[in-house]
Amino acid sequence: MKLLQGRRGRLADLGAGDGRLVFAASSAGFQCTGFEINSILVAYARSKAYWRRIPSSQVTFVKKDFWKADLSLYNNVTAFLVPGVIEVLGEKLLKELPQDALVISCRFPFPNWPQKSAAGSGLDQTFAYEINSVRSHLRKTEMKWVEYCG
Ligand SMILES: C[S@@+](CC[C@H](N)C(=O)[O-])C[C@H]1O[C@@H](n2cnc3c(N)ncnc32)[C@H](O)[C@@H]1O
Repeated sequence: MKLLQGRRGRLADLGAGDGRLVFAASSAGFQCTGFEINSILVAYARSKAYWRRIPSSQVTFVKKDFWKADLSLYNNVTAFLVPGVIEVLGEKLLKELPQDALVISCRFPFPNWPQKSAAGSGLDQTFAYEINSVRSHLRKTEMKWVEYCG
């Protein structure tokens, strides 16, 4: 949540689990969607939203594989996944997210992406990336390679 300070708009949590991050972001004013494939966790998170009387305009839990979701509507994306997934996820995010998007990854950084900031330490470390900076960094790196290879 520290890394989301100053941000607003729509947020997608990729792999929302029991919804804890979605609820925290919703309390901070974000319009949140939690994508989750485990139907028990989706039911649990939805029931929490129901008992807390949070309207679906603020919080939605979708039982869906996030790889099949269109993420182009979201200007904030959070993920707490596993290292092997992160690199491939980076490609999807670079293709779909708007230029002003912020991506936050818990525990596992995106390799070769320049970080905007980080918070926490050890297993609790979390990394933030501005997608426009990542795109321009990767473009520059690619151009250097083209020059180098002739
Ligand atoms: C480590 S938990 C993170 C939960 C929550 N975001 C948090 O920060 O507390 C990862 C979650 O991602 C879900 N998940 C993994 N792959 C997924 C996929 N392809 N689509 C949707 N959910 C997925 C898992 O079921 C699990 O609940």
